[in-house]
Amino acid sequence: MCGIVGYIGHRDACSIIIKGLKRLEYRGYDSAGIALYDGKGIYVSKIKGKVNDLEEKIASDKNTNGSIGIGHTRWATHGVPNDINSHPHYSNSRNLVIIHNGIIENYAAIKQELINRGYTFHSDTDTEVLVNLIEDVQKSGSYMLGKAVQIALNQVVGAYAIAVLDIKKPNEIVAARLGSPLAVGVGKDEFFIASDASPFIEYTSNAIYLEDEEMAIIRQHKEPRFRKIKTDLLFTPYVQKLKLNIEEIEKRGYEHFMLKEIFEQPQAIKDTYRGRLLVHNGLVKMSGIEDNLEKFLNAQKITIVACGTSWHAGLVAEYIFENLARIPVEVEYASEFRYRNPIVTNKDVVIAISQSGETADTLAAIKLAKENGAFVFGVCNVVGSSISREAHAGAYTHAGPEIGVASTKAFTTQISLLAMMALRLAKAKGTLSTSDFKRSLVALETIPSKIEIALKSDGLVKEIAENYKDATNFLYLGRGFNFPVALEGALKLKEISYIHAEGYPAAEMKHGPIALIDENMPIVVIATKYGHYEKIVSNVQEIKSRKGKIIGIVTEGDTQVKALADHVIEIPETSEFLSPLLTTIPLQLLSYHIAVLLEKNVDQPRNLAKSVTVE
Ligand code: M6R
Repeated sequence: MCGIVGYIGHRDACSIIIKGLKRLEYRGYDSAGIALYDGKGIYVSKIKGKVNDLEEKIASDKNTNGSIGIGHTRWATHGVPNDINSHPHYSNSRNLVIIHNGIIENYAAIKQELINRGYTFHSDTDTEVLVNLIEDVQKSGSYMLGKAVQIALNQVVGAYAIAVLDIKKPNEIVAARLGSPLAVGVGKDEFFIASDASPFIEYTSNAIYLEDEEMAIIRQHKEPRFRKIKTDLLFTPYVQKLKLNIEEIEKRGYEHFMLKEIFEQPQAIKDTYRGRLLVHNGLVKMSGIEDNLEKFLNAQKITIVACGTSWHAGLVAEYIFENLARIPVEVEYASEFRYRNPIVTNKDVVIAISQSGETADTLAAIKLAKENGAFVFGVCNVVGSSISREAHAGAYTHAGPEIGVASTKAFTTQISLLAMMALRLAKAKGTLSTSDFKRSLVALETIPSKIEIALKSDGLVKEIAENYKDATNFLYLGRGFNFPVALEGALKLKEISYIHAEGYPAAEMKHGPIALIDENMPIVVIATKYGHYEKIVSNVQEIKSRKGKIIGIVTEGDTQVKALADHVIEIPETSEFLSPLLTTIPLQLLSYHIAVLLEKNVDQPRNLAKSVTVE
């Protein structure tokens, strides 16, 4: 969490950093701050609130000139969001300023040592401890900034992406990474650093992604130097050509990124399929699978690790893999898996699913799985992300940048990709007949156009949202492949509208949640044609007789649920295993419209951040 940006070159650093911070606000938006070197001194300004608040605060300042600077947008970990805890932080001498994304776990012990040596602290942050540790190292051996940062980082435990400025050597930014992402943009006589490439994409498409325990010393008018923090080795990094374009990270006329991303799903799924779903050849081809087919086929079991929405995609995949390929699958919260001493061996395949590819718990789960000898396959969206590099092999979803904190197109592209994987394995194992396999490929191919149709329910969903926007609780029910969709629908509503919602397998309702049902309770029931339809109709009747308000998600042409429900939203017919790709669309729209009607900040809901790079 937290976004960091830095610039060193010949342009106005302030405007580049402010624009860059706005693009990184998905990573946190509790406070924002900037440090600029104007040729004379380092100017620092910071404020609780959004980057817009910072921009307003510095608008009339005269000392925001200069072409070197760093900036930060915060998701609070240590210390409440306020002006003092905002970054950048000064060292005691005010010679150093730092911005930091991550957590220094042993900060309390270091802080105590520094206090014993006479240092004072103004904030509650671990970051202020780190900058003073660097200063202390500098003083103890008259070290240059780069060396002092390196020595200090070898003493800390935790995660960081940092950038440090030193008033004594102002034409230099020292940046380093462990556990939190950091990219260096390489332009013509100018350099950028950022948590991802979006702040510099219009200036350069050349990027270096620092690996864990690597640092960069970026200097004005000179080549940067790259060093391994532990071994002190200088190295030449790989410069990646970025394919990201500026249009992809802008709203393009939509009121919110979330809405844009919901409507992008047909194209995003086509991009996931590209080169892989070869219907005319009757093939699914994915190099990550082809190269490791034996590992999948010989796997004792597949364990899926993920968090949040990605975990819900993993649950859908469990149903798909077990049904189609008959491989046993377990789905685990990465945060539980990493600490519960799981049984995982070299006979297992672990699939890690993550949109950002930076989720700390998922990354830790991968490391544990690797230590136990398992083969790890990553399903990520962000190219070059930590998880995609840590996994033995993997496949990108190619959904394009997802900026809204509430995940939408990441979910459907993850399911699409996992469904292709399951089909490829089913073919190899012979668990599907040739005709069923071919039918499934065609069904997959038609999903994007069916999502286009499902999106046409937008107006109707908005009307339904008007009816229920003031409800204080919602239930979401689904069965089989659509049980995880019920969980996902509830999560979407909770995170952006702050309305309490629970997802349940429909049959579990009578084991408890039914007690909640009265005339004030809206219940979203996923009741598509295939998959225990008659049983769901019975559940709907049970709700009806307790006066609950029923919003049914049904297959086109449905009559039974229509006769019972207060509202129905139709989706096109598809194969049962692919129905989550369609049933989730009205649920995304419902949460979106309710949040808009309640005037919530849809793209940046309170307390959340897009990528959770801390435990
Ligand atoms: O980047 P990841 O897919 O690893 O992120 C996992 C969760 O943090 C994420 O899905 C989160 O639950 C979303 N806000 C849900 O909309």
